[in-house]
Order: sequence, then C-alpha cells, then structure tokens
Amino acid sequence: MDYTVMMPAAGSGKRMGAGYNKLFLELEEKPILIHTLDMFEKDPACVGMILAVKPEERVQIESMLERFAITKVRALVDGGTERQYSVKMCIKAHEASGIVLVHDAARPFIHHLVVRELVEVAAEHGAAIAGVKAKDTMKYVQAGIVEGTVDREKLWIIQTPQAFQFDLLQKASDKAEAEGFLGTDESMLVERLGHPVRIVESTYDNVKITTQEDLVFGEVLLRRRR
Ligand code: C5P
Repeated sequence: MDYTVMMPAAGSGKRMGAGYNKLFLELEEKPILIHTLDMFEKDPACVGMILAVKPEERVQIESMLERFAITKVRALVDGGTERQYSVKMCIKAHEASGIVLVHDAARPFIHHLVVRELVEVAAEHGAAIAGVKAKDTMKYVQAGIVEGTVDREKLWIIQTPQAFQFDLLQKASDKAEAEGFLGTDESMLVERLGHPVRIVESTYDNVKITTQEDLVFGEVLLRRRR
C-alpha cells in the first residue's frame, strides 16, 4: 500500500555537540539525513516525502538531495521551533488523503518490514506506531529518592515511524494547535482525540542518533547490514 513520508529534519542537535545539524554528520561517507531518506527512496510503496528543514539549511539540503540522487522529496517546508511544529508544517503542505508516515530524520536504521506493517495496520485502524518492549526496570524518582517502580510488562519505548490515516492526523494536529498542546510525538495528539493507537513491534536497532555514542553504534550497524 502506498504512503507518503513526513520527515522533521529541522532540529539543532545540541546533544550531539557537533556545532551544526547532526543530520549532516556522515556515516560511511554519507550524511545521516541521506541514509534515512534512502530507506524510503528504495521502497516502491513510498510515493513521496515532505521534509521540514531550517530555512538557513535549505540550500545545503537541496544540493545533498541532488548529489545523492534522492528523487522522492516533493516539498521542503520551513521547520518550527519544536519538532511538533515542524511536523505541522509538513501536514499543512500535504493535500492528498491516504496513509502518511511521520519519521524522524535522525533514525536511519528502520526496517522495511516494520514500515510495511505500520502502513497496513494504520490503513485498517487509523493509527499505528513503532515501539519496542522496555528491557530495563523503570522507577519514578523525585529529588534523588525512589518513589515507585513502573510495571514493566506494560511499558514500551516508542520510536518513529508513526503511521496515520492523513485525515485523522490532520484532525489531531489541528486540535493540538487550537488548544496550544505540545506533545513529544504525533501519537499523543491522536490519543487526545480518543482514537486507539496500535503498536507495531519494531527493533532495538532503530536508534535515534542523538549523542556521540550513537554514531559509534551507527557505524557498527551499517557494517553489519552490508
Ligand atoms: O532532537 P531530536 O533528535 O529529538 O529530534 C527528532 C527529529 O525531529 C530530528 O530529525 C530533528 O531534526 C527533528 N526536529 C525538527 N524540528 C525541531 C526539532 C527537531 O524537525 N524544532
């Protein structure tokens, strides 16, 4: 089933400490951003991508797309000050209905099988998000003192992609905007509508490249996939 990707790529990457957008850092001589876009470029079911970028990085990104022969980017929109606002700009630039996938540009290691399942589940049920079961014990801590332990059986670590019927995502995003609600992912916005969101089990290697250690992990993953 066909889908469109909305990809926020307008972060500052402060935690990476590179001094510039971490998505421009290279793994095996290719920027992280291109690794991520390439996953969808190669998937015949992906019919287009909308990318949210910082206005001052637009020219650089345009030339990267050309250099690495990324052809499916239909629009580059200006990103916002928060990730949710960047995705909102992508939503505003999209006109068709059907399935859309929101995916962080900083996650280059998503598997095609997970993408396919997300799209199928979202087509049937409206909303589906990628996640993995929590492996560690989680506790609430206040001022250095443990307040309690979370029931791990019910805990999932949520990733992107997150797949939605576009009309549902648009409605959820409009409501959040009207009410000034800021969430950490698009699922939260859909949850606020009372619409059930399904989980699709993903893989632990779908990491978000955030800090220097993730780059080392990324090199290892790329070698393993070759
Ligand atoms: O900073 P973090 O890695 O959590 O951001 C997740 C994704 O959202 C990244 O791909 C980043 O470029 C993007 N982002 C954005 N606009 C922002 C903040 C983050 O597009 N204002």
